[in-house]
Amino acid sequence: MDIRKIRLNLWPRVFRRWAPSSLFARSLLIIILPVAVMQVAVTWAFFEAHWQTVTRQLSDGLAGDIAWDVSAYQADPSAANLARLVDRAERTQSLSIALQPGKALPTGRPRGRLLPAFDQGLRNAIDDRMTQDFWLDTTRYPAFIDVRVKVKEGVLRIIAPRDRAFAARGHVFIMWLAGATFLLTAVAVAFIRNQVRAIERLAAAAEAFGKGVDAPHFKPHGAREVRQAAVAFIAMKTRIQRHIEQRTALLASVSHDLRTPLTRLKLAAELAPASDRIDAIKEDLSEMEHMIDEFLAFARGEGGEPVEAVDLGELAHAAAAAASRAGTAVDVSAAEGISAQLRPNAIRRALSNLVNNAAAHAGRVAISVERTGAGLTICVDDNGPGIPEDQYDEAFKPFSRLDAARNQNVKGVGLGLAIARDVARSHGGDISLSRSPLGGLRAVIGLPG
Ligand SMILES: Nc1ncnc2c1ncn2[C@@H]1O[C@H](COP(=O)(O)OP(=O)(O)OP(=O)(O)O)[C@@H](O)[C@H]1O
Ligand SMILES: [Mg+2]
Repeated sequence: MDIRKIRLNLWPRVFRRWAPSSLFARSLLIIILPVAVMQVAVTWAFFEAHWQTVTRQLSDGLAGDIAWDVSAYQADPSAANLARLVDRAERTQSLSIALQPGKALPTGRPRGRLLPAFDQGLRNAIDDRMTQDFWLDTTRYPAFIDVRVKVKEGVLRIIAPRDRAFAARGHVFIMWLAGATFLLTAVAVAFIRNQVRAIERLAAAAEAFGKGVDAPHFKPHGAREVRQAAVAFIAMKTRIQRHIEQRTALLASVSHDLRTPLTRLKLAAELAPASDRIDAIKEDLSEMEHMIDEFLAFARGEGGEPVEAVDLGELAHAAAAAASRAGTAVDVSAAEGISAQLRPNAIRRALSNLVNNAAAHAGRVAISVERTGAGLTICVDDNGPGIPEDQYDEAFKPFSRLDAARNQNVKGVGLGLAIARDVARSHGGDISLSRSPLGGLRAVIGLPG
């Protein structure tokens, strides 16, 4: 593969793996990352260009004073000169000088020296200006620096105020910077939270609508683009609902209009003298009636039925009892108390369609209800001939009946699976077919939990 292509592909993958996935975290990163980099840059520039320069200049000044005092003492080490020197240093240089006769320089490093390079500048500045040995402690006293210089008579101890050597107030600058950053970040977090919440609400409303739950209190909210998306979503939702209503109304009126002549025909057939032909007509008529019922159910599909808590165990037992009355024994295995927010009539119809299919093609039927990690499943198994795998999609199509059923002369319109799938999808779930461990078909209604 072309090396450039590899690079191009690698970057988004690395980015995807390390970048946070939520919009909130990403927006936060977009704001905070530049601020953090900026802060580091400004802090570095401040210390490098300002704080260190000022400190170096101060150290140079202090070192110069110390070197001058030491050489002035050494030029005339008399007591009178020392007294004059001490007095002048006190008044004009803010240094207090004392001679410790006969003493040697302390050995070893000063106590508590945490930052070895901290006073290196001052050390070098003194070193440059004097040939005498000296010892330096910048950490022992918070406000003073202790410098000791070896002279012939002993040790000259010089105490200098700390701010004569180091630029103070660097930490104040850092605190201002950190405080301002913290405040701005908090404001940014609050604003981003608000924007993201608008998108989350839109997503929740769309998801609820997909599951068939209406969200009547949903109002566009947030930035203009998000509000536009929300308005578009509401318009789309209204269009879909209108479309469904039109479909329902049309099919309902057609079916209704067909029912009246059908009832008249049935009545006429009942009144006619019994014969084989009349029996055949009656059979056709009842098949037509079944078709019209199915057709109506398919049209209603998404109808305006409200959702409520439905106990799936009870539902399975009811479907099994209905099938038993029609002459097929059905085993049910369902744990207690598995319930979900569903449209009771729609889901009952979907399950009974599956059970009727199984009962039409097989002698043994089993229903099991389970709660899985992702949601709920209702499983209908039978020991019939099943459906070849490549005809699963065909079986779901409205009005499609597979050859096997036709050849076996099993009655049907071909809408049962289409209606069941419609119902499952309107609840945000789906139906899948597979081979059953019993030998026939397994139809599984999967619903979100
Ligand atoms: N349990 C099953 N075993 C074998 N074949 C099945 C089974 N269930 C469905 N089929 C096949 O799938 C086809 C479509 O089923 P579907 O329920 O949609 O229609 P139908 O049963 O023919 O008619 P309707 O249910 O509308 O009265 C059936 O005609 C049949 O060939
Ligand atoms: Mg059927």
